[in-house]
Amino acid sequence: DASSSLKLAVIPGDGIGPEVTAEALKVLEAASPVKFEQTTYDLGAERYLRTGEVLPDSVLAEIRDHDAILLGAVGGKPNDPNLPPGILERGLLLKLRFALDHYVNLRPSKLYPGVTSPLAAPGEVDFVVVREGTEGLYTGNGGAMRVGTPHEVATEVSVNTAFGVERVVRDAFARAQRRPRKKLTLVHKTNVLVNAGSLWWRITQEVAQEFPEVTVDYLHIDAVMIFMATDPARFDVIVTDNIFGDIITDLAAAITGGIGLAASGNVNPDRTAPSMFEPVHGSAPDIAGQQKADPTAAISSAALLLDHLGHADAAARIDAAVLADLSSRDGSPRRTSQIGDAIVARLA
Ligand code: NAI
Ligand code: MG
Repeated sequence: DASSSLKLAVIPGDGIGPEVTAEALKVLEAASPVKFEQTTYDLGAERYLRTGEVLPDSVLAEIRDHDAILLGAVGGKPNDPNLPPGILERGLLLKLRFALDHYVNLRPSKLYPGVTSPLAAPGEVDFVVVREGTEGLYTGNGGAMRVGTPHEVATEVSVNTAFGVERVVRDAFARAQRRPRKKLTLVHKTNVLVNAGSLWWRITQEVAQEFPEVTVDYLHIDAVMIFMATDPARFDVIVTDNIFGDIITDLAAAITGGIGLAASGNVNPDRTAPSMFEPVHGSAPDIAGQQKADPTAAISSAALLLDHLGHADAAARIDAAVLADLSSRDGSPRRTSQIGDAIVARLA
């Protein structure tokens, strides 16, 4: 519907963030049947170092009033004494996820033709990780005392609620139901983390009753590390808690062509707030400002954004263009903007 327009909050961020975001926007605009009214937000390490501000409440309120968010990456130079660890993670990325209730962290992993995997025999890899995004070890439930002494105490408590687990498990089942293989693998460590593990296990069994066509599998997180390396083709939809999902998805990215290709969505399936889409990678200060970054992950994240907003056809066209571009890569170096242009040119 060309008459309608959607409001897009753009957070280019730091380092290669603005470079890859520019290409994602190029592709988004070329592929989308709807117009995006864009507002760009200056957030990240640079703004913090300049002003001391991370995410002012007024900015959060403005961002909330959009249909979706496109994020590049945030983060400064390694070990900058002026940028303490956790400032941007807790104050910006996690704050957005929690405030906008991004309880599904969605990370597809697909080994495209023409892409080299470090695995000798990867098989047909095409799975999606549904990582819980608002609970677990990442809620900031913990503290430290007697810091710096031999008696220092440090705790991070994993928070798992029946409400939080059920809604993400149900979302994962629904995604499995829509995929050809209809298989869901719950990943946890139920043998040791018995309290949270029991909750995840029981809720998965309960919700499974609503999805009789979906095959349910279970693996411990350590076993998943083995199968990611030996038989990743066995996975279809993986549902897991916040930290396990964080770890699995980096390995998943590594076996499917690397960090330059890994896309993600921080999704609020209930649509009570805008969802946020971003490449999995960071701001890559080592290559920033040189047009060396691969914008493919950001471009695929824009496809996830379109899919979330109900434009599955446009999303599929971006995926097809990315696939065509990947298949044609011969290893000769291209600038970030050249890759973006090539993918735009391949949009059917
Ligand atoms: P990183 O993902 O930025 O970089 C890791 C390595 O991958 C680097 O060698 C980099 O050059 C390369 N790389 C990353 N993206 C690439 C791309 N699109 N094309 C080609 N090569 C690419 O991770 P790192 O170095 O651990 O973190 C750098 C900064 O980014 C830190 O400040 C970190 O906190 C932040 N970060 C931010 C994230 C976010 O905004 N969601 C996620 C991860 C890290
Ligand atoms: Mg990570």
